Amino acid sequence: MPLIDLIAGARPNFMKIAPIIRAIRKMQQSGTSLPYRLVHTGQHYDARMSADFFAQLGIPEPDVNLGVGSGTQAEQTSAIMLGYERLLLEQCSDLCLVVGDVNSTMACSITARKMGVKVAHVEGGLRSNDWEMPEEINRVVTDAVTNYFFTTSETANENLRRAGVGEERIFFVGNTMIDTLLSNMDRLRPPSFWDDLGLKPQEYVVLTLHRPRNVDGLKNLQAMLTAIGDGCRNRTVVFPVHPRTRKTMRALSDIPGNFELVEPQPYLEFNYLVKHAMAVITDSGGITEETTVMGVPCLTLRDSTERPETVTVGTNVLVGTDPARVRPSLDRLFAGEWQKGSIPDKWDGKAAERIVEVLRKFCRPPSATTASSTGSVLP
Ligand code: UD1
Repeated sequence: MPLIDLIAGARPNFMKIAPIIRAIRKMQQSGTSLPYRLVHTGQHYDARMSADFFAQLGIPEPDVNLGVGSGTQAEQTSAIMLGYERLLLEQCSDLCLVVGDVNSTMACSITARKMGVKVAHVEGGLRSNDWEMPEEINRVVTDAVTNYFFTTSETANENLRRAGVGEERIFFVGNTMIDTLLSNMDRLRPPSFWDDLGLKPQEYVVLTLHRPRNVDGLKNLQAMLTAIGDGCRNRTVVFPVHPRTRKTMRALSDIPGNFELVEPQPYLEFNYLVKHAMAVITDSGGITEETTVMGVPCLTLRDSTERPETVTVGTNVLVGTDPARVRPSLDRLFAGEWQKGSIPDKWDGKAAERIVEVLRKFCRPPSATTASSTGSVLP
């Protein structure tokens, strides 16, 4: 039976891989075996960035942890490639399924394809066209070596068609991150500091920042935080601080008085905060999808997005990276003029089931006449 590698490396991967594993297990319970190996690259390793998500989302212990840790872009990417190549040399798989756009996604897809292993990309086809972001390079390179694309939107399908990808390789399945959100909606719970900070639904703002462009420069980060603090009037701004951001924050002289700095939050607590927030200010991509589904106003501190439907259909507005642009957007929010939004097509909690159904067809047991030398019958 063909073996599928499921690759997960960094925080935003975990909620995308969780429903796929659940759907595979469900299929196995009904008698169809789909053998997989869960490979954690170790790109994220702090409990708050990794293990907490495994525990809360019921993801099994990884079968393999490559343990690569942090480094420069090249250090991290090459360490993942070396580790994954070693694994494939020990025991090769038949399909490498990667999710999202982090360094682990790109590194494993290149390694797999060069080893003759087919690649499936969940969230394929997204494009921000901003080549200053490492994630855009990861997306384009990953898609260049991908065999099967599992997409979240018609825009992604169109991007792939424009790049010459045939329809038979594109599977518009929906959004696995939203699968996880919808299946956990009833489990969301307040963080331990909820009462201590006196938080009340719709009366506070959530802030997350981790993009190098926003957080690596001291002066720019200071100006941005000041603009957000002023623009949010007297509302509390709950700010879970990403490890990358913490490094710059240590050197900041002036944290606005309405800010509450907290540790990165586990999944259930973070999304509880988001669900009940007046608004979210972020430079994340995934959070703009979650706010869209929860109907929470979202201000994105980026100049582009690879998820345009969060703007055209959802509750997201691209505010940009210039601190001067924050105030007018917050004025609009406080004036109650934010768009209501609706939910994009196929973001219905069933994406992983659709993916696994496709995988099942690809990975049917080899028969004497169809099996290749590796036992794979993948088209
Ligand atoms: C990575 C992804 C980004 C994703 C983000 C979510 C890439 C290029 N970037 O960015 O797309 O949105 O994850 O968090 O893959 N660190 C810790 N503990 C950890 C992990 C990281 O302290 O568990 C610190 C390290 O000092 C590291 C820094 O955070 O140098 C950045 O981590 P890294 O994995 O390089 O990128 P992220 O900024 O997290």
